[in-house]
Amino acid sequence: MRIREIFTLEPKKQILAVEGWVRTKRDTKNVCFFELNDGSCLKNFQIVVDKDKTPHLAPELTKIATGASVRAEGELAASPGSGQNSELQAHSLTVLGESPADSYPLQKKRHSFEFLREIAHLRPRTNTFGAVARVRSALAFAIHRFFQENGFLYIHTPIITASDAEGAGEMFQVTTLPLENIPRKDGKIDYEKDFFGKQARLTVSGQLEGETYAAALGKIYTFGPTFRAENSNTTRHLSEFWMVEPEMAFCDIDANMDTAEEFLKYILSYILRRCGEDMDFFNLRIQPGIIDNLKRVIETPFRRITYTEAVEVLQKAPTAFEFPVSWGIDLQSEHEKYLTENVYGGPVIVTGYPRQIKAFYMKLNADEKTVRAMDVLVPRLGEIIGGSQREDRLDILEKRLTDMGLKKEDYWWYLDLRRYGTVPHSGFGLGFDRIVQYVTGMANIRDVIPYPRTAGSAEF
Ligand code: 4AD
Ligand code: MG
Repeated sequence: MRIREIFTLEPKKQILAVEGWVRTKRDTKNVCFFELNDGSCLKNFQIVVDKDKTPHLAPELTKIATGASVRAEGELAASPGSGQNSELQAHSLTVLGESPADSYPLQKKRHSFEFLREIAHLRPRTNTFGAVARVRSALAFAIHRFFQENGFLYIHTPIITASDAEGAGEMFQVTTLPLENIPRKDGKIDYEKDFFGKQARLTVSGQLEGETYAAALGKIYTFGPTFRAENSNTTRHLSEFWMVEPEMAFCDIDANMDTAEEFLKYILSYILRRCGEDMDFFNLRIQPGIIDNLKRVIETPFRRITYTEAVEVLQKAPTAFEFPVSWGIDLQSEHEKYLTENVYGGPVIVTGYPRQIKAFYMKLNADEKTVRAMDVLVPRLGEIIGGSQREDRLDILEKRLTDMGLKKEDYWWYLDLRRYGTVPHSGFGLGFDRIVQYVTGMANIRDVIPYPRTAGSAEF
């Protein structure tokens, strides 16, 4: 039986078996206690071995050590000790795999997150990383549930792609060309000889392909890995991260903001309801007050401001920013933090960014200076969602592509959507790893994904 289930049982006399990994062991003359964790919940389950009553278990008991895998069978009993209501009085014990104390790196003591990153294959056996993994899984489920309940179709967009969805050129290349002897034609790399017959790269976003399905099926979402070769070594950037991207036809920027807000509140409520034990842990150990904080976010309407208003607020700020503020600059993390933490005390949706700092596909406003972008900013992290109403006018979209130095031929199929039955449509992208960070309070994004990939690091 899984430990999570055992803790729901009345500690009435019954026989059961449990399997897990030893977290701690305490030996006295007559009794041996050890705690098992099987990953089903945060709490460990205590196994008690009465040495006098079960002398035949002595050989196995010597093999019990932190990290060992064990199967124990016995009788469930009320626990006299504090902290748990039941324990197992073992009458049979098998150590499936020993764990030598002199080499097992996860002895019972506090390890730094930096150290645990070096043993990322073992860190899920710690309280923190077990809790992160459970919350991450529950968040993924909540996301699917929200969209499935609201009529969105889940679309699988390609990971290998020939188009740059953000037009920012921060892409990893996929090739089977021999790197030591690259074929060339007229001085340029001959991609016709490459595996796909053209240059192929890892996707930065499923949005453009997502739009094609929204332009047929109405409401869709993608949820998959995305890749960015940007060399930003921060606590909120990964080179490989997961993104959730809904796309809605017949939807303008206001409905887009409403959806983003409703969606975030839905998944936060789901986690508070379903991950109580793990959230209590984060509340106590990682980010004190986070539960009340998330509750407040769920209850309070998100503040909505324009970029121009944001700039005015920032210019009046009594603090000096590292990056000076003027109309036209991209908001930096320090600005996003100031707005969410110092000014509005909660999430803020900023709209109407200057066209120069946003992607080619965003709908140009009548002022021709700003686009219908929307970024959802949150305290502690800054941008968690980036989205927009899309440019649905063919001529303007073509001009935007050219202005930004992109070739319209490369986007022929994307432009077709504006040629045939174009509609107002909108969508956004939620950084999945960032929402895990936001919900758990973990300070570094490298600690919310099992195997982080960042510049200079792809171990495991
Ligand atoms: O703002 P971004 O770049 O928007 C897009 O990719 C659009 N195609 C989304 C859309 O409209 N469908 O990225 C969206 C979100 C960001 O707000 C951030 O949360 C996350 O993805 N993100 C990253 N997360 C981790 N590491 C990185 N390097 C990230 N870059 C973006
Ligand atoms: Mg963005």
